[in-house]
Amino acid sequence: IKQSGAVFFIFGATGDLARRKLFPAIYSLYREGKLSEKFAVIGLARRPRTEVQFHDDLLQSIQEFARYKVDKVDADWQRFAAHFTYMSLDINNIDGFKELSSVATKLEQKFDIAGNRLFYLALAPDLFGSVAHNLRDGGMLETDGWHRLVIEKPFGFDLASAKLLNEEINKVFEEKEIYRIDHYLGKEMVQNIGVVRFANAFFEPLWNNKYIANIQITLSETVGVEERGGYYDHSGALRDMGQNHMLQMVTMMAMEPPSRLHPEDLRDEKVKVLRSLRAYSSKEEVKSHVVRGQYGEGTVRGKSRVAYREEPNVNPVSTTSTYFAAKVFVDNFRWAGVPFYIRTGKNLPVKTTEVVVEFKNIPDNVYLAKKNKLQPNLLVFRVNPMEGIYIKINAKRPGSSDESQSTIIPVAMDFCQSCLVGLNTPEAYELLIYDAACGDSTYFTRWDEVKLAWQFVDQIAEAWAENADDLHIYPAGTWGPQEADELLAKDGFHWWPVN
Ligand code: BG6
Repeated sequence: IKQSGAVFFIFGATGDLARRKLFPAIYSLYREGKLSEKFAVIGLARRPRTEVQFHDDLLQSIQEFARYKVDKVDADWQRFAAHFTYMSLDINNIDGFKELSSVATKLEQKFDIAGNRLFYLALAPDLFGSVAHNLRDGGMLETDGWHRLVIEKPFGFDLASAKLLNEEINKVFEEKEIYRIDHYLGKEMVQNIGVVRFANAFFEPLWNNKYIANIQITLSETVGVEERGGYYDHSGALRDMGQNHMLQMVTMMAMEPPSRLHPEDLRDEKVKVLRSLRAYSSKEEVKSHVVRGQYGEGTVRGKSRVAYREEPNVNPVSTTSTYFAAKVFVDNFRWAGVPFYIRTGKNLPVKTTEVVVEFKNIPDNVYLAKKNKLQPNLLVFRVNPMEGIYIKINAKRPGSSDESQSTIIPVAMDFCQSCLVGLNTPEAYELLIYDAACGDSTYFTRWDEVKLAWQFVDQIAEAWAENADDLHIYPAGTWGPQEADELLAKDGFHWWPVN
């Protein structure tokens, strides 16, 4: 990318994603010297915006969200901003794309870019098809370099709509040119799961149903739906987080080691996991294995929150779930019988993403005599906001000989990545935009992954659609419905408290 450069076309350049994530990520890449001077960004949206206004938006977004600080008077900033152009574009008007083509050609000459074009669609998915067609018909794909399409979730609403969407895009772009973003795959600690598993003699031999009792994945958020009620009320937690981020994390935890670190090898392994997910046998089984909830009013971290049904743009009798917890099985040789418990929700008490591996107890443990209590060993990946890994092991309570209490206590061995490098690790979007620009699709979801994930989620959504008598209202600021605790209690487990 440094040698031949690229033009980034950001569709939806006046939107939230561009402001919060994309511009700051491009700035960080620039500051780290990963882009050189051979790049240009064309911001595209319907709204008219002068170049000066656009540069002001850009500056504001970077000042607010980037991990590098910037000042308007810096020469560096001026040089960076000179790479950004804005053009108002009506996505359905082919003439606009022809004009865009000539703007792009001029920028390619100006910055000595070899015709490489990356189209980032930060747009509603129903526009993906028309954009793809107009890119082709407007002559935007006729340069000598590469052309890549980066698209945001949601990729469809269910399997049927995802298929249609995919067919539309495939008329113009080949699968290898499509980069479907799941920003969780860009998180440092999610990428670290593979390293911890496959590069450590401590863990790899134990990574199976002989030693692991269960795996718990928690994605909890302290925010409600905020201003996204319109989108969220049609999506809900299952489609918004389950189909993508959560199932992707299951694949990272469960997959076999890829034979090489090539994108297709890794993605093949993830697909095998998705194919092995056990379908629920009936609607009753969905009910007993999947708990759904919706937040009522309450208080989160000292701030009062309205009930979901009172949020703007939400149906006042909505049955959309803002929380779900599920028991999932990966039916293969390695994982037979090991439950994966996954849960996510809005307006919960803590913002965190954690993966806990609970190991089985040691058989015939001599220390179990007396008053000793043994906790199972845990391996915990802390994905965000703190990043790190820790293990919990049993050790002797120092100096203890008092037989009236346990002489064994759980102790933690903690690798706190955030403590070492601060909270300043590259943002997911930074890693992913860079990978897409370099043509590395490892941490993007391939069509067969998306398809299988929808297939799994659809059976739950269909069972839910029949009636909502099992939708539990939980007060904002709590850990969701009690039934989610019972889901584990039935198996003799409990959710490990998050840190
Ligand atoms: C998005 C969801 O994909 O992920 C949001 O649409 C959610 O509803 C967000 O808030 C969470 O991402 P992160 O990185 O803050 O955990």
